[in-house]
Amino acid sequence: MDYARVLAMKIQDHSARIGVIGLGYVGLPLVLRFTEERFHVLGFDIDPVKVEKLNRGESYIKHIPGEKIRRLRDSGLFEATADYSRLSDADAIVICVPTPLDKNHGPDMSYIEITSDEIAKTLRGGQLVSLESTTYPGTTREILLPKFERGGLKAGKDFFLIFSPEREDPGNPVYNTKNIPKIVGGLTPRCRALGAALYGRIVDRVVAVSSPEAAEFAKILENTFRSVNIALVNELKMLAARMNVDIWEVIEGASSKPFGFMPFYPGPGLGGHCIPIDPFYLSWKAKELNFNTHFIELAGEINTNMPAYVVAKLGEALNSRGKCLKNARVLVLGIAYKKDIDDTRESPALEIIEHLYEKGAKVLYNDPFIPKIPKVRKHDLDLKSTPLSARLLKSIDAAMIITDHSAYDYDWIVEKAPLVIDTRNATRNVRTRRNRIVKA
Ligand SMILES: NC(=O)c1ccc[n+]([C@@H]2O[C@H](COP(=O)([O-])OP(=O)(O)OC[C@H]3O[C@@H](n4cnc5c(N)ncnc54)[C@H](O)[C@@H]3O)[C@@H](O)[C@H]2O)c1
Repeated sequence: MDYARVLAMKIQDHSARIGVIGLGYVGLPLVLRFTEERFHVLGFDIDPVKVEKLNRGESYIKHIPGEKIRRLRDSGLFEATADYSRLSDADAIVICVPTPLDKNHGPDMSYIEITSDEIAKTLRGGQLVSLESTTYPGTTREILLPKFERGGLKAGKDFFLIFSPEREDPGNPVYNTKNIPKIVGGLTPRCRALGAALYGRIVDRVVAVSSPEAAEFAKILENTFRSVNIALVNELKMLAARMNVDIWEVIEGASSKPFGFMPFYPGPGLGGHCIPIDPFYLSWKAKELNFNTHFIELAGEINTNMPAYVVAKLGEALNSRGKCLKNARVLVLGIAYKKDIDDTRESPALEIIEHLYEKGAKVLYNDPFIPKIPKVRKHDLDLKSTPLSARLLKSIDAAMIITDHSAYDYDWIVEKAPLVIDTRNATRNVRTRRNRIVKA
């Protein structure tokens, strides 16, 4: 049988059944996009809570409204399951499982390994597998391919294998799954053509590259580019502070150059599932080739030091007011790793709270999106969000703006709090009592 032709026809007339493995920040928007285009989708997740919620029509991601999930359930096009034996029902399987770092700062490939083993058990002729999880160049060919070919099927002939990185930017009002161009790298030209055809049904523009390695590398280049440039402005922020120059003003000035410059902004440290982690997938792989990725290491070092730097700035500011960090009541504003989202993964706020505790400060926090700080591998903080009030702000020694959520009234915060450490330039439009603000 000509598997490629049959699959191409199924993709063409939208009768191809899609399996999405891992229904998190990446997988769930993808499910929605496929069903919007009338594809039948089976969603797989090992988390029974997620499976139950989806089948009840409920959302668990803040920026995906419950109404959308209700409509998804009512469409009859979607079902969530934890039963891997149903993978053979899918014509195209998309893998969106986590790729964190392990204890030694190396890639934790266990999620990809487990998922690929499960797919291999039921892999059949005519299936297309797309890996979307961010990973080092070589993963698709070195880890997935041997598992899939072990049973005798041949990639490019019997089944099709591609890498297509996800570029989801949660909460972005302009760019979404449909209008963000999608890179596709196939193991063979036929794999690439089928991958491009599949994604071409749900995104406005597919960018086909010659291999999975090129696609894997492209994704890490994008995130390394951000990490390195953020580290650069973080370093220059520290220098500018010594020179009594406002780095934000400097960046705004430089941004007026219409070519050859792109603004990046300093902050309290890197957060999220991607930028602090992905570059280390590449540096780990580079070591195999006896190659040192200097920029990645240096950027990592500078960005990792930012939480300690902003806490030191708080210490200096308190000191100049005749106070010290020990026993100071410090209110951390914003725990999410970026504004207006409910995600705390790798958030620098958690590291900052640990530093504050080490210095003997009493820590409170407020975040409209995070009622309680979830326990994660590195941090077990057991703190609940304190409601903001004038009384609270007057009772503290300092507030630290770590995440500049839109809901905050910065004029009011500066009016009521005795000292405000601003790591995001969130108080730029505050006109009165500016002597209470310290940029860090
Ligand atoms: N979140 C982003 O903005 C973003 C952007 C680009 C790329 N990525 C990459 O996409 C991948 C997924 O990230 P995410 O943010 O969606 O993670 P996530 O943690 O939100 O979701 C992953 C999901 O996979 C499930 N899962 C774990 N093991 C599984 C298994 N064996 N079988 C089935 N399900 C399993 C988890 O329960 C979870 O629901 C990662 O490689 C990440 O680096 C994420």
